Amino acid sequence: MVKKRTCVFISGQGSNLKNLIHYSRYNNFPLQISLVICNNKNANGIRYAKKYKIPFILVNTKLKNYDNKIIYYLRKHRISFICLAGYMKIISDQIIKNFKKKIINIHPSLLPKFKGLNTFSRVLENNEKKTGCTVHYVNNKLDGGDIIVQKFFYLNSNDSEITLKNKTQRLEYRAYPEAIIKIFRNN
Ligand code: GRF
Repeated sequence: MVKKRTCVFISGQGSNLKNLIHYSRYNNFPLQISLVICNNKNANGIRYAKKYKIPFILVNTKLKNYDNKIIYYLRKHRISFICLAGYMKIISDQIIKNFKKKIINIHPSLLPKFKGLNTFSRVLENNEKKTGCTVHYVNNKLDGGDIIVQKFFYLNSNDSEITLKNKTQRLEYRAYPEAIIKIFRNN
């Protein structure tokens, strides 16, 4: 199997990056993590790129035209697929156009519910019975692209933002690889 050369975009903890790197080492997993792009020089996730010797690029999204730098490196590393994993920046139209249906994201709610930030506090305020995570394609609407995989769990009365985050992330580590396998199953 020829693995797709993939770039993972991160901004923080990087636990989904670590999980994807882990899966990518299986022969039958469709992706090879060939590049990491990060917009936060203090992101913990950078250490996984270093540990597994994956090239990583830091971008300063406050600079004008930072997008050109991203596109330059995506081309240079012959990237054909992009996974967003906690990347706290909207992806520009220019990148979306260049990677049509080739960018996916993982979001910590059952979309279309709770798009955007602070999902766990909103889940609690809304007295939701269940919550979970969604892997979806990225288009030019915030958390609005087609859904690929969702996983959920039921809340209990003791749940807090912290427990919801932990439970959701445990589901994410299964949902993200599952979504990737689903996308490439018929390719
Ligand atoms: C994940 O919970 C994901 O749903 C959201 O950001 C978080 C990133 O976590 N988009 P990590 O950096 O992968 O640990």
